[in-house]
Amino acid sequence: MGIYTIGELLEAKRSIASTLSKCEKVILKLQPGKSQYTLTVRRIAAFKIALDLIERELNKMTIRLEEPKDYREVETLTREAFWNKYRPGCMEHYVLHCYRDRPEFVKELDYVMEEDGKIIAHIMYSRAQIAADDGRIVPIIIFGPVSVLPEMQGKGYGGRLIRYTLDLAAKMGCGAVAITGDPDYYHRFGFVSGSRLGVYYDGIPRSEESPFFMVKELKVGFLRGVTGIYKDPEGYFVEDAAVDAFDAGFPPKEKKKLPGQLV
Ligand SMILES: CC(C)(COP(=O)(O)OP(=O)(O)OC[C@H]1O[C@@H](n2cnc3c(N)ncnc32)[C@H](O)[C@@H]1OP(=O)(O)O)[C@@H](O)C(=O)NCCC(=O)NCCS
Repeated sequence: MGIYTIGELLEAKRSIASTLSKCEKVILKLQPGKSQYTLTVRRIAAFKIALDLIERELNKMTIRLEEPKDYREVETLTREAFWNKYRPGCMEHYVLHCYRDRPEFVKELDYVMEEDGKIIAHIMYSRAQIAADDGRIVPIIIFGPVSVLPEMQGKGYGGRLIRYTLDLAAKMGCGAVAITGDPDYYHRFGFVSGSRLGVYYDGIPRSEESPFFMVKELKVGFLRGVTGIYKDPEGYFVEDAAVDAFDAGFPPKEKKKLPGQLV
């Protein structure tokens, strides 16, 4: 990356975008020809140029495919991101470790984000399917684990990596993508509750809302006429004993029972 970090650029982009939007509202109330109007027009043009330049700089940042040499670093990153988040300790680094060898793993969407030679974020995708009520098997993809280094979270990195790979998935021809997670976070990427598109999470009665299960069409209308059940691929389920054995190869970390964990 150049002289600014991705975080600094994203912060600047947010501030400029917000000021630009204020100027665009103000100009509606000004009279063309007046000096204040001309000044605001110039400001708007300048902010647009600044946003364009930031966007160009951001597009240069390193988002690249994961390589075998990254595996351990990415598993450590995943462990750091998930540790004590949803359960005491975590199992996502082991899921990822095993998943790369599975046929459902989408190698073309296994991406890392790098800053100054350090991997700061990672995302993986898996092939999955909807078992439709009419007997069809509808292929979709899902993503996760998605991880950002704890000290880098909340700065826009995760969102950028998710958007980048969703765009790629669309270009690859994937019709729809599912995710289980926090709706507050994933709605911003256009995910909606699965039930709105007629897709239900396995094991939960259709009459019950399961907001944590969300779907996004990458091809408009891909799920039109489809009603059915989504089930997480088998590779997402691992034995606790196998997780513990794998985790023993990492530096010791204290498992804690914390409020908000799912298990
Ligand atoms: C989830 C994760 C990948 C998001 O990446 P990130 O870089 O931290 O997120 P971004 O900076 O792009 O987005 C920040 C916004 O998302 C929100 N957010 C981040 N993680 C969230 C979560 N788990 N649930 C709800 N909102 C979340 C932040 O509050 C912030 O909201 P705001 O823009 O309204 O202020 C990252 O926080 C992470 O690695 N978390 C731990 C592992 C995890 O939970 N992975 C996802 C499992 S489904």
